Amino acid sequence: MMNLILWAIAFIGHLGSWCVVYNRTHATNWPRKVRKRCEKLIIAAVLLPLFWFAGRVIGQQTISLWDIASNNKLEWIYLFLMLGLGVFFAARWSWRKFQSPPEAIISNRRTLVNVQHELGRNIYQTSLGMILKKIPFNQAHLIAIESMELGVNDLPSELDGLKICQLSDFHLTGQLELAYFGRVVEEANRFKPDLIFITGDLLDELDCLDWIDPVFGQLESRYGTFLIRGNHDLRIADQKLLLQRLESAGMKWIGGQRVSIDIEGTKVFLTGNELPWHTGAETLAPDSLPDSGLQILLTHTPDQIEWARPFNFDLIFAGHNHGGQIALPIVGPIVAPSKYGVLYASGTFEIDQSIMHVSRGLSGDECIRINCPPEVGCFTLRKV
Ligand SMILES: [Fe+2]
Repeated sequence: MMNLILWAIAFIGHLGSWCVVYNRTHATNWPRKVRKRCEKLIIAAVLLPLFWFAGRVIGQQTISLWDIASNNKLEWIYLFLMLGLGVFFAARWSWRKFQSPPEAIISNRRTLVNVQHELGRNIYQTSLGMILKKIPFNQAHLIAIESMELGVNDLPSELDGLKICQLSDFHLTGQLELAYFGRVVEEANRFKPDLIFITGDLLDELDCLDWIDPVFGQLESRYGTFLIRGNHDLRIADQKLLLQRLESAGMKWIGGQRVSIDIEGTKVFLTGNELPWHTGAETLAPDSLPDSGLQILLTHTPDQIEWARPFNFDLIFAGHNHGGQIALPIVGPIVAPSKYGVLYASGTFEIDQSIMHVSRGLSGDECIRINCPPEVGCFTLRKV
């Protein structure tokens, strides 16, 4: 029994350390080709030791870690290093798991919509989409409407009750049919938001350029729909055309910019950060932020929190990590393209004075989601 526990801890250490490498690799702005090659190397690095030690267990007819590692110094070092890391990862996971939710969340309610059942037909398209559709428990065709009341310190009274809808990571590829995203828009509009924020990764395929009007062009908000781009938007070679089409659909692009909106006589300042994939935000200086009003940051990746810290934003909206897309029972997600691993895979966090919400997004490179339904974020701000 003890040997099985030790092997399990070593396995956690082995898998956990390669997840760290995977997550950090995907947090970079390296070219996609390079990251894909790294991905293959990482998969090999995960599998080879597993096969190696499985072979040793079978060859030596023992599951005793000591017996297997005692004859080979390299095996000994590797196994005991992984045991140490296994203990570290398990302790860190437990510590995070039992953190209480942020005080800023006054209430939180989830409503699930099954778009495929509603439409009464298969909504997965393309050959890849048809394969992913067959994966048991895939939730890519659901919409989770996350309705949250957030308590914001020193929120101007005029903004008490301000309604914000965040939509992120649409990844329009054609794997899910247009009607799915139409339903997303319907839910966003049903909330009757004052502001809509789109936090990047709108379009992966040029073929979906004509979806901009029927999807983004149908969004309705009282004071405007604001967007920033993500890393996947770079797949559209003509960025000027992309932004033109988005703006003519009624959205305001604020990448690398700061804009202000007047709401009930109070200023709401919006800052857009598309780093590290698109430049612009690096020239913004914290000392130029006015003290009054409400300060909001839209950033594609939550990895920009260090950049954001000196600005003291009241609210930060991010996406990019998709909640890990696959959340294992009890364990949760294990991969996310972030230098913080899965720490900010999704959810609401308090970072210094700021409240940060990381959306699970709506889709992905591959429309596969397990225990991680696509999200429409509906936030009502409350003065506390
Ligand atoms: Fe994304």
